[in-house]
Amino acid sequence: NDELYIDNAENETEWQTRLPNALIIGIRKGGTRALIDSLARHPSVRACPREVHFFDRRENYQLGLDWYKSQMPRSLNNHITIEKTPAYFVTEDAPRLIHKMSPSVKLLVAVRDPTVRAISDYAQLFEKLHGKMKSFEEYVTDDPQHRMLRTLSKIVTTGVYVTHLKNWLRYFPLEQIHFINGEELVKNPVHEMQSVEKFLGLKPFINEELYYYNETKGFPCLVPVSKKNGEQAVSGCLSETKGRPHHL
Ligand code: A3P
Repeated sequence: NDELYIDNAENETEWQTRLPNALIIGIRKGGTRALIDSLARHPSVRACPREVHFFDRRENYQLGLDWYKSQMPRSLNNHITIEKTPAYFVTEDAPRLIHKMSPSVKLLVAVRDPTVRAISDYAQLFEKLHGKMKSFEEYVTDDPQHRMLRTLSKIVTTGVYVTHLKNWLRYFPLEQIHFINGEELVKNPVHEMQSVEKFLGLKPFINEELYYYNETKGFPCLVPVSKKNGEQAVSGCLSETKGRPHHL
């Protein structure tokens, strides 16, 4: 028993990589980057800085859970380790594979008006293709009157939230999934983030002092953390690819 006690005590203070106990599974363009960046400010959260695409890409999944774990930042036993890959939400097999990793993992989903979400996705693609694409209406519909949605378009299908959600509910109870209102995350990030804190069982940390409104960007930004060694503070605003104009 003594040995067991010592083992546990060591684990408490040992920095190591661990599998995530919370995941931001989507929704693409719902505000997932803003969400994870805010959470990363919490002292008890360790956020994976990149999208690992473990449960949606076969070539990654076959590298195994040890590989996935090695992608995580180091943490202590009582930290929450979180990864975000918005593609998980729309990947049919992801709920099963995630449940297999951990049936108790907490799931976060940032939702947004599906039409605005589609426009946001289109704006991203438009930029990637340097504008060489059909108009939004032509892109998402099948008929000249633009009345019939093109059901093969991923921009359309991603927004039919209920079809994907049903998949998740086959494996996880609704209480284990927390929905973040993407519009509110922009208007009132403190309120939205405090309910995330509560859901994750985190000590209250997030408050008004963490944010300021950046007039130029037109979005809330995190107050930059001052760095040691005279390095310049990192901007707390998201990159230019977040908060693009939606002119169609
Ligand atoms: P737009 O670029 O269409 O405005 P994701 O990170 O999931 O790709 O979501 C991107 C969206 O996050 C942006 O869509 C933007 O509206 C939203 N968002 C929420 N909070 C933001 C913030 N503080 N700064 C910039 N964008 C934010």
